Amino acid sequence: MKNIILIGFMGVGKGSVAREVIKHSEYIAIDTDDLIESMENKRIKKIFEEEGEAYFRKLERDVALWLKSSVKNTLISTGGGFYKQKNLKDIGTVVLLDSPFDKIIKRIRNHPNAERKLKKRPLLSDLKKAEELYNERRPEYLALADIVIDVTKKSALECANELLKKVKKHA
Ligand code: S3P
Repeated sequence: MKNIILIGFMGVGKGSVAREVIKHSEYIAIDTDDLIESMENKRIKKIFEEEGEAYFRKLERDVALWLKSSVKNTLISTGGGFYKQKNLKDIGTVVLLDSPFDKIIKRIRNHPNAERKLKKRPLLSDLKKAEELYNERRPEYLALADIVIDVTKKSALECANELLKKVKKHA
């Protein structure tokens, strides 16, 4: 099994889909933001506040190098900006979770923990800026993806099943 790298914009549902994939397959899962938080013993929000975004991106680079050298047979969910890592395609099959910006925001707002979900993401604090970032990134996400899953109007389980089917075909 090759690694699967889940990419996509903040709030699109990478974590929820990853949880369903591991329930229904042999994959185990890790998350680049979780790795960074444990490396620094600090929340992402705090890292942004205290060290700045450039420092966070450097930590993402360290994680990418480690993934490439040491991780196998794993589903790797990533922070929304992790796709910029130059060696991304060497780490595994790149799967994009895709949805229009307004649907992503709606998804976050409908979540029982909506407030916390918005608060923990520094780059979502200004929605106009976040939409610009989405528009800038979406073509880059699409260009990198080996597999694209449109998550709009699908449950996490439906997305996970589609992912596993497409990954099998792609192998
Ligand atoms: C970021 C996305 C976040 C987190 C950080 C930066 C981004 O992860 O890595 O706040 O640049 O899009 P999620 O995509 O899991 O929210």
